[in-house]
Amino acid sequence: MKRILLIIGGGIAAYKACELVRLIRKSGMAVRCVVTRAGEKFVTPMTLAALSEDKVYTDLFDLKDEAEMGHIQLSRQADLVVVAPATADLMARMAHGLADDLATTLLLATDKPVLAAPAMNVRMWLHAATQRNVAQLRADGVTVLEPDEGAMACGEFGPGRLPEPEAILAAIQRALADGADVLEGQPDFDMGEKRLTHKHIIVTAGPTHEPIDPVRVIANRSSGKQGFAIAGALAALGARVTLVAGPVSLPTPSGVDRIDVESAREMEAAVTAALPADAAVMVAAVADWRVDAAPEKLKKEAGPPALNWHKNPDILANLCASPQRPKLVVGFAAETETAIAHGQGKLLRKGCDMIVANDVSVDKMGGEVNRVHIITREGVDSWDRMEKSAVATRLAERIADALA
Ligand code: C5P
Repeated sequence: MKRILLIIGGGIAAYKACELVRLIRKSGMAVRCVVTRAGEKFVTPMTLAALSEDKVYTDLFDLKDEAEMGHIQLSRQADLVVVAPATADLMARMAHGLADDLATTLLLATDKPVLAAPAMNVRMWLHAATQRNVAQLRADGVTVLEPDEGAMACGEFGPGRLPEPEAILAAIQRALADGADVLEGQPDFDMGEKRLTHKHIIVTAGPTHEPIDPVRVIANRSSGKQGFAIAGALAALGARVTLVAGPVSLPTPSGVDRIDVESAREMEAAVTAALPADAAVMVAAVADWRVDAAPEKLKKEAGPPALNWHKNPDILANLCASPQRPKLVVGFAAETETAIAHGQGKLLRKGCDMIVANDVSVDKMGGEVNRVHIITREGVDSWDRMEKSAVATRLAERIADALA
């Protein structure tokens, strides 16, 4: 997964950095924010932390983080450093190689490409000093975007507006594509290779909702917690994770690429679109049945509706039978009785490599703990009752073993 270090300067356009962070995350990249002291006047580190799902660095953190993470390391863990908004002052300091705060120190210490998206008053942009600084930065290899033209917050009109977040994201993607060759042979400063680096894993999670009419659905009690925890644990081991999530209101685990779906058929389409993959972990509680959905809301005065039932596709079984079958396919079995025997049957019937069977009569669906049995063709491994996060970590390690 590509990583962006986003430096947010102090200008009214800093609020747009929030949308940029959201778009970067949505496009499947990780983003770590650094806010200048002036930037903090316009956007709070807490907002950025929530949107980036990562720690935010400011001058205040700077000293106490020195021991934990040096400036040099922070500046090099990213694939690309982005400055948005790049104010006149920040660009002037960059052009002169100053390093008098965290942001400029990182910019001087980085060995990665730098992209700057300027935003300032039109006079400031057109000023000879700024134009000189921009020319210097470009000569130094920094990609400086042209600001947009239009009405400005200060009431003037002309060039100086921060490019729209979508345009900055497109520039980021171009810069990463251009820089791919340059970055290739460079050492990876992101704590080195992890066990699942370069592996793509699809995880399904949550329930599905099968519509009855525009307002009613057939649902189940799956909370999505176990699947989300597994997606997060796999990402933590370095995998590129595509999480296909049914309707749940859980935060996306760090570093995970999430696709939200509603019905089983949408889930199957999203899984198919995400292929190829090295492994698939199907944790979702997919509805076995759907009904013909009424185009308009059913009226209760008409009495109990006669629902016309159809079998949903078995996403797991279809994936196992597909020519694009991942090397490792893991299924789940939530049972209320004889979990192991049912799990063993399911392993063979569906054609997967591993079934994680849990007895939902003991630990209710939606709870925080799980007691699981890992069933493979080689045998059964029954784990103690533990937190879902612990099940996730252990299962991710087991998957890494199987893919090694
Ligand atoms: O057949 P059953 O629903 O018990 O199987 C559970 C396993 O199969 C889970 O891994 C679940 O995600 C998967 N499944 C599926 N598509 C279905 C039904 C179940 O992928 N339609």
